[in-house]
Amino acid sequence: MEARTSQRSCLAIVLAAGEGTRMASARPKVLHAVAGKSLLAHVLDAVAQAGVTATAVVIGPGQEAVAAEVRRVMPDATTVVQRERRGTAHAVLAAKSAIEKRPDDILIVYGDTPLLRPATLSRLRAPLRAGAALAVLGFRPADPSGYGRLIMAGDELVAIREDADANAGERAIKLCNGGIMALAGDAALAILERIGDHNRKREFYLTDAVEIARGMTLRAVAVEVEEDDVRGINNKAQLAEAESAAQQRLRQAALESGVTLIAPETVFLCSDTKFGRDVVVEPYVVFGEKVTVEDGAIIRSFSHLAGAHVGKGVSVGPFARLRPGTRLGEGARIGNFVEVKEAIVEAGAKANHLSYIGDALVGANANVGAGTITCNYDGIDKHRTTIGKDAFIGSNTALVAPVEIGEGAYIGSGSVVTANVPPGALALGRARQTIKEGWASRLRGLKSLGKKKAQSHD
Ligand code: UD1
Ligand code: CA
Repeated sequence: MEARTSQRSCLAIVLAAGEGTRMASARPKVLHAVAGKSLLAHVLDAVAQAGVTATAVVIGPGQEAVAAEVRRVMPDATTVVQRERRGTAHAVLAAKSAIEKRPDDILIVYGDTPLLRPATLSRLRAPLRAGAALAVLGFRPADPSGYGRLIMAGDELVAIREDADANAGERAIKLCNGGIMALAGDAALAILERIGDHNRKREFYLTDAVEIARGMTLRAVAVEVEEDDVRGINNKAQLAEAESAAQQRLRQAALESGVTLIAPETVFLCSDTKFGRDVVVEPYVVFGEKVTVEDGAIIRSFSHLAGAHVGKGVSVGPFARLRPGTRLGEGARIGNFVEVKEAIVEAGAKANHLSYIGDALVGANANVGAGTITCNYDGIDKHRTTIGKDAFIGSNTALVAPVEIGEGAYIGSGSVVTANVPPGALALGRARQTIKEGWASRLRGLKSLGKKKAQSHD
């Protein structure tokens, strides 16, 4: 009996040696982000979810940043350097030592196709299980120019002709090579080593593998997929298109998991955004990386969240900014024009208006009045503010960190708090108000007298 795909060993070779000149950027192409995640990380995650057992990433010389991203996303993957850029087959052979280990299946994918889905890779592997030596992903782009064309004979793939080498008849073929290929591990090396560079570009074309395999009486097939799966990113316009497609998928997944998105097209998500049950997201909200929103929370319009944990039943915004290190406990309320960074706001605590809470702990049920600011930075170092539970911070208070406000303490409005406040105490850190009876009326009287005198001299 044939082993199921999940039980077969599989090597993925990810080609990422391209320079990405058309991105017009100092950053290597595969490190540009879609939905808060690098193109390469999207591909590596898809590969991992497709049941791959080993991964080799082919990078260009000096692409240390790409190697670092591989280590971050997939620490057990190997990175190999293609010293000269001599074509896709040449790039694959940079991973020769991994191919020599004879995995059952080999998947060759590009590092710049962020919309590739794990299920698509599994579909591509399926023909190998059924005895084919080679399978490629085919698609029908609106404009096929520039792509290799798939020459079919019934179900069999006969050849892939590169656009530059195709004749008029071949150019008329609509079914194109998506670039992603599966090879049977036992035949792969023999096929790849026979590929030459006798073509217009003098490159070692991976696509020649088809005719070589057939010459060895092996079978080659094509698996047709939607364009998104193989959509490669070459410039910023394509990056923006991929972002839009990725956002559509993320919004759809959020809706299917039960999140209420009132105007889904206005909400921007990250690949790692996590929602509990019965979460409501109002229009125009942006989720950066690493945000978790628990059950029953509501995120109101025009809020921006990143690196934040939003607890059960919390209300955020409108116009709130949650920055990395924010943790909001159950039922906490963060209102309009409130910024929170590196701070724990415990259950039931509130900061409803116009505040900055940074490097702080706000105890349970504490009330942070409008305009309260934690002065966490002295120009050199950051310092912490601790607010005890049930404390009441009057409006327009400056909490000059490091400072601790005891449990249940009360801070008078407009205070500049520079010293710790004991539990249950009142702190008034502001100038005492003085009253001068009749002062304003006298001033007005003097002024109007002066004006009359001036007029009488005209
Ligand atoms: C390739 C296919 C073409 C297919 C198209 C789909 C070949 C010969 N042609 O063409 O049939 O329709 O993809 O997008 O395979 N790379 C390296 N080292 C190299 C050359 C390429 O790592 O020496 C990497 C690139 O970074 C890129 C990928 O391989 O990720 C594809 O290379 P590219 O030059 O873009 O191939 P195409 O000409 O677009
Ligand atoms: Ca390309």
